[in-house]
Order: sequence, then C-alpha cells, then structure tokens
Amino acid sequence: MELQGPIGVFDSGYGGLTVLAELRAKLPQHDFLYFGDNARAPYGNRSFDVVYEFTLEAVKFLFDQGCPLVILACNTASAKALRTIQQKDLPQIAPNNRVLGVIRPSTEVLGERTKSGHVGILGTAGTINSGSYPIELAKFAPEVAVHQHACPMWVPLIENQQHEHEAGRLFIAEDVQAMMNQHQAIDTILLACTHYPVLKQQIEALVGPAIQVVAQGAIVAEKLNAYLVAHPEIETRLTKTATTKFFTSETPRVFDEKASYFLQQEVASEHHSF
Ligand code: DGL
Repeated sequence: MELQGPIGVFDSGYGGLTVLAELRAKLPQHDFLYFGDNARAPYGNRSFDVVYEFTLEAVKFLFDQGCPLVILACNTASAKALRTIQQKDLPQIAPNNRVLGVIRPSTEVLGERTKSGHVGILGTAGTINSGSYPIELAKFAPEVAVHQHACPMWVPLIENQQHEHEAGRLFIAEDVQAMMNQHQAIDTILLACTHYPVLKQQIEALVGPAIQVVAQGAIVAEKLNAYLVAHPEIETRLTKTATTKFFTSETPRVFDEKASYFLQQEVASEHHSF
C-alpha cells in the first residue's frame, strides 16, 4: 500500500493561507502541510522559468514530506508552472501523486456568477500577462468577456501590511478604477491572487454593492472536495488527524507573526530552504 500523508499547500508567501483557511473549513479532518517560499517572494514579477523552477522545488519538498497531493495555492505558480509540472515532471518524479492549481476551479464557476457577461480579473503581472484566465474561462464560459488588470504593487503592500495606510489605499483605488474603466458592464471581480482576499472589503467599498467581489478560497475548497470524492485513489492516501504543519523559507519568527495575521490564529512554523 502506498504511504499516506497530508495535503500539501504551496504559496510564494502568505497569500495561500487564505486558501488554506477555506480548505480546513471544508475538510476539517484532513491534515495539511503549508509551505510558504517567503524568502523568495514575491513571485508575481518573476520570469516564467524562475517561477517554474521555484515551484517545482517546492512541490518536490512537499512530496518528500509525504504529501500525495499538492495544491498550488498561488495564481502565479498555477499560471506559470502547473501545466509543465503536471505534464512533464509528475510522470517522472511521482506518477501516483497529484498537483492541482487555483485557476481552473475559479474559471469553472465564474461564468455562473456574472449576469452581465463581463468579469474583471485582478492579479499579479505574472498571472495577468500569462493570459491563463481568458484562456481557461473560454473553455467553460466562452460568452463571457474578460477584463484584466495587473496590480504589481499589491502583494508587497499586503506583505508589509501597508495596504491600509493612506498611500496603500491610493494605489489600490487607482488599480481598481483602471480595471473598472475597461467596461461599464463589469458586475463581477475575481481576486485572482491569493493575497487579495485581505483587500476584499476595501475593494467592495470602492466599487459599491452592485458589483460582487469574489475570493477564490471557498471555490477551491468546494472543488477539491468534489475532486476527492471522484478520486478515491488519492483520498484514501490522505491522513486525517486534523493537524496543520507550517514550513517557510523565511525565518520562522517572521513568518509566524505575519501568518498569524493572515490566519487569525497562532502559527509555529519550521524552516526549510533550498
Ligand atoms: N499569492 C500569489 C498569487 O496568488 C502571488 C504572490 C506573489 O507575487 O508572490 O498569485
């Protein structure tokens, strides 16, 4: 019998914790192992090759820790590395393990959320420039028009907890306005970066109640649950003692403090670097 282990959750930094929170709410008995590559974050403005290389290292680390399944809880990594890892690396390094991302689950439901048929996507430069959202959305809802805008300043603002300062608010308002200016019928905005849910209320206040602002975590958790029901060969390899372990490439003390803010609970991490 194959070894059992936790669900691995990977992000460049802290943003994946917003996804982890929803995964734990949906699958409370499962074990999770979170790895944040905080020492090398942000990934958003890095090249395709570098994001792929870093993400593959993280996936291998999580496999080595015994995770049969890894969720790339990072849009940038999902956009730039997921396909290559699934198609090229996985068959060689761990053919029975699985790696899933956050873009496909989000695009599967986005078409149902918009009434006007115009959605806005806010993400890192890496995610937006990859074109992954328009490409994936065209598969599930080809009638929906996609209006994208890259927000390269947002992750650094959030990671440094400056998004509520006056200057931070100004940057955020300008980016939201730039996207809304693309089409007056936009009625749904996807926060296509796992860091952005901490800005949800701020963005809702900017765009008003007629426009829905969608965070991905709950969608990803819902889809993962359905995936596990459909894939008992993976589900039976997942341990269920309701625990979560944290690893970071940053100094654990620094990670623990910021992670506690994102997760609203005490976090005690271990160090891992490449
Ligand atoms: N949280 C990541 C995402 O969802 C990006 C953060 C970064 O730029 O490293 O895209």
